[in-house]
Amino acid sequence: MSFVKCLRCRECGREYPIEPLNVCDFCFGPLELDYDYDGIGNTVSRERVAGGPLTIWRYQDFLPVGAADAVDIGAGFTPLVRSKNLGKLLGLDNLYLKNDSVNPSYSFKDRVVSVAATKAREFGFETLACASTGNLACAVAAHAARAGMKAVVFMPSDLERGKVVGAAIYAPVVIAVDGSYDDVNRLCSEVADNYPWAFVNINMRPYYAEGSKTLGYEVAEQLGWRFPEHCVIPGASGALYTKIWRGFHEFASVGLVDGPVDTRMHLTQAMGCSPIVQAFNNEEDVVRPVRPNTVAKSLAIGNPADGIYALKTLHESGGTGYAVPEEEVTEGMKLLAETEGIFTETAGGVVVSGLRYLAETGAIKRDELTVAYITGNGLKTQEAVDDVVHPLPIIPTMSSFEEAIKAVGSNGK
Ligand SMILES: Cc1ncc(COP(=O)(O)O)c(C=O)c1O
Ligand SMILES: [Zn+2]
Repeated sequence: MSFVKCLRCRECGREYPIEPLNVCDFCFGPLELDYDYDGIGNTVSRERVAGGPLTIWRYQDFLPVGAADAVDIGAGFTPLVRSKNLGKLLGLDNLYLKNDSVNPSYSFKDRVVSVAATKAREFGFETLACASTGNLACAVAAHAARAGMKAVVFMPSDLERGKVVGAAIYAPVVIAVDGSYDDVNRLCSEVADNYPWAFVNINMRPYYAEGSKTLGYEVAEQLGWRFPEHCVIPGASGALYTKIWRGFHEFASVGLVDGPVDTRMHLTQAMGCSPIVQAFNNEEDVVRPVRPNTVAKSLAIGNPADGIYALKTLHESGGTGYAVPEEEVTEGMKLLAETEGIFTETAGGVVVSGLRYLAETGAIKRDELTVAYITGNGLKTQEAVDDVVHPLPIIPTMSSFEEAIKAVGSNGK
């Protein structure tokens, strides 16, 4: 059971049936799902949501497929951690960290793929595929395994080992393309025209993108049915960022949370690939593609599919865009690990350094309710923080140990 009505063009508003389509035939605009919001409003309640499973499927009334047939490996309902030490350091008394790095394949991409894989199976596809900056490949391969589907994942050949192994372990076909993510994506659009495969972020993109709304719902529910005053979110294609905003609006429109939505949505990218942030800060209304050169490989999309919609959300919400200097990406990873015990990947480093900038410049005030989205796991991007590794080599004697502990300036007593 789902309240989904149709696909609708985001540009010209034309309606399309619920099929594996992502582009409008008339104006080439992207398609998005539309729902019977009156029906949702008459059905949904805080109690109904709270009684649902501890996964994204507790929000099934807002998704294009029902929970009964879900391809579900447990995505979602991740911890919303009240910050103690990082908040104190940054002068923020009301800071929360949405720790989505603990999803089953270790990134928020499990949310989007759980929805896309469920719909793909319902459409009768036998192969799940994607163009990926790494995390999506892991999520696609894991969900395909669970669904009994074949998987073919395409990625740039220069990804971190943790991303490649994190996908390959589920036994998909891994295609390593000698090119950037944007090259991979272009190739996959051609492949999708020629092979009967469900590319989660191409022909299945409208369904896939819906999964990111759950990162809005979940935060609102975990805050006690409130919206935060600030969100700090990483951006690659811009889909996650725009869909969290959409999720807040849906919750307000059906009365689950009192509106209006007055959250300021801050978008963070790494300096070496920040086309959306640059467009916003230069007051442009188009996003100019860039050639990525960044340590934050998961965010290395030079030509973001949802770029103009992200610009719209930045304007509507009164948010800011911040491009984090490259050297601050790993500083952010270390800061989060050392203050809160959370090991995030480079995308999380971008968010934490962006958060620090927003706090230091006064864009976020001490008492304002703020959520920083930590979307991926640091074990997948170990190369980025290799410099933290310096164990003390000793032989197994007390004197060798004591010599070593003295050398690091601690007697441990
Ligand atoms: C860990 C992580 N965070 C954030 C993003 C950004 O997602 P989006 O492409 O929806 O902007 C990605 C994209 O791959 C990612 O891997
Ligand atoms: Zn159209």
